[in-house]
Amino acid sequence: MHEKDKKKMEKLKDEIRRHDFLYYVEDRPGISDRDYDRLMQDLKDLEGKYPQWVTPDSPTQRVGGKASENFRGVAHKVPMLSLDNTYNLEELKEFHNRVAKNLGREDRIEYVVELKFDGLAVTLTYENGSLVQGATRGDGKEGEDITVGLKTIRSIPLSIPMEQEPFKIIEVRGEVFMNREAFARLNETREAEGEPPFANPRNAAAGSIRLLDPAITASRPLDIFVYNIGYMDVIPFKTHWEALKKLQSLGFKTNKERKLCKSFDETLALIERWKTEKNKLPYYVDGLVIKVNSFKDRLKLGATNKHPRWAAAFKYEAEQTSTRILDIKCQVGRTGSITPVAVLEPVFLSGSTVSRATLHNEDEIRNKDIRVGDTVIVQKAGEIIPQVVKVENPAGTRRRKTFRMPDRCPVCASPLSRPEGDAVWRCDNSACPAQLKERLLHFASRNAMDIDHLGSAVIEQLVEGGRVKTFADLYTLTLEELVPLERLAEKSAQNLIDALEASKKAGPARLLHALGIRHVGQRAAMVLAQTFRTLDKLQVTRFEELESVMEIGPTIAESFREFMDKKENRNELDRLKQLGLLVELEKTETSTVLEGKQFVLTGTLESLTRDQAREKIVALGGRITSSVSKKTDYVVAGADPGSKLDKAKKLEVKILREAEFKGLIEG
Ligand code: IVH
Repeated sequence: MHEKDKKKMEKLKDEIRRHDFLYYVEDRPGISDRDYDRLMQDLKDLEGKYPQWVTPDSPTQRVGGKASENFRGVAHKVPMLSLDNTYNLEELKEFHNRVAKNLGREDRIEYVVELKFDGLAVTLTYENGSLVQGATRGDGKEGEDITVGLKTIRSIPLSIPMEQEPFKIIEVRGEVFMNREAFARLNETREAEGEPPFANPRNAAAGSIRLLDPAITASRPLDIFVYNIGYMDVIPFKTHWEALKKLQSLGFKTNKERKLCKSFDETLALIERWKTEKNKLPYYVDGLVIKVNSFKDRLKLGATNKHPRWAAAFKYEAEQTSTRILDIKCQVGRTGSITPVAVLEPVFLSGSTVSRATLHNEDEIRNKDIRVGDTVIVQKAGEIIPQVVKVENPAGTRRRKTFRMPDRCPVCASPLSRPEGDAVWRCDNSACPAQLKERLLHFASRNAMDIDHLGSAVIEQLVEGGRVKTFADLYTLTLEELVPLERLAEKSAQNLIDALEASKKAGPARLLHALGIRHVGQRAAMVLAQTFRTLDKLQVTRFEELESVMEIGPTIAESFREFMDKKENRNELDRLKQLGLLVELEKTETSTVLEGKQFVLTGTLESLTRDQAREKIVALGGRITSSVSKKTDYVVAGADPGSKLDKAKKLEVKILREAEFKGLIEG
């Protein structure tokens, strides 16, 4: 029987890989989501039955692995050089002239022209067909190991077919990026959570890949385009064009917009074409890359210590245009932050019509001296969010008075405050309808309570009508009240009631996140819930204890305490509890053998993740803290421990190696 199951597992894996390829690389799904989930579930079931047969390249293994304490240094076998930038056609022509001179011929120089993606350069090493390591560029000689994060990107194959291949090792290089839509959505969520938005998609991609928790990385829609080979033990082709085709047939995602140019002049036409066309792509492109096609030519051209002489980047200038500021309005965010926004005379810029630009905050307006009526230069930062670059009024313009922030909230008229050292004005009225709407939207969102059918149109009406003033009010809504709402049919009203009922079981981690406490995002909420298990307990936990928890720290602890110290918030939690929301983690087997014991983890554990280690320790009554002190009872040292191990030795804290630790928690 066993052999049959093993065959079945292999077949399932192949099938899933094929569908991942179709969906994530080729962008043409082969089956429905439901059928896909079924295949995945079948595989998970079999792997649960035969854990000894789980292979690292199984599609089930994309999220997991052990997030190492630091991103370990990785020396690149072949340096990861960067490209020489050119900004105009003359500079590009100079590049070509140098190539021609060094090759000793004017004609028969082929170039491959590719898009230049704005993301994070990475390198992926495959040995005998399996992905063994992924790393960042770093300083070009040494990067950081980000294998765990990269494995969550579904367009990166975990294994490649090797049957027909003469080589055993291949290192491919490419750019990890986030497309326009995903970037915009991520920033919306961040702003709603009181986190600063990412300035551009490159930062968003880099920040997401470097998260410690692969589950959260996996929830960020990252993608890759592979554009080069870094190293191969046997090189079976003569040109870059062939290499890209090979990479594509091995299952890598390459970009189809590449072109093979038989002469330099052909590249110029492409530069003209992509200048505006690039704005229509679903991802950000900030230029083109021009690469000599022949490997023999490349070898002859060589490299300086920074750039290869066989390639150059052509960067487009950020497009700018001028328009007038019709008004400056203030928007109220979920945490009460007031953001001034310029209302612009609509103008076409980098692919879309722009009618608003963020002015960030009061200081920004003052520094640039921006006033209503001014003529300004606007541009899209990272080609997306329009920004005001500077004021450029025609000579003789009579300007209006300097802009002053309102002293009252534009929505609820409560006085605004600006705490010292903070750049942002806030409306402190937590009942402000603008804030309330944003908070409710966040409460209902997918990563929070996940309440389907509770969108902004419904929330708007519930808040405007005064029917919903707090989260708890949502759970007292009746079908009769919902049916008359606009844009909500009877069926959806019933669906909403059902969704609300279902959300009561979301549990304390989601609930904590949903409350929208500043700085308490998805991850912090999960850690707090896992560590303290019940909201009752969390309400009375002191700052010092919160702060000492691994991954929490003073900022989160302070914000959390501030929230819980407000009587209205505690009342709200009591009400939610009375309405039947789950505020405790489900009982697991608990014991008190480690009651009051403080643990610190360092290095990588082989047999369990940090979250699993935390669960075990907490279930036995212990706690994981972030730094070693005299109060620490045990330091658990995995592979490649950090400085915490030295500190433990100095303070003579008991050190447990992985096997001893397992003995302790299992015995
Ligand atoms: S080739 C030796 N191709 O631009 C040159 N790079 O400074 C290897 N980039 O670090 C790079 N799109 O992160 C190449 N189609 C493309 C690219 C690309 C974006 C990035 C890459 C590199 C930087 C150049």
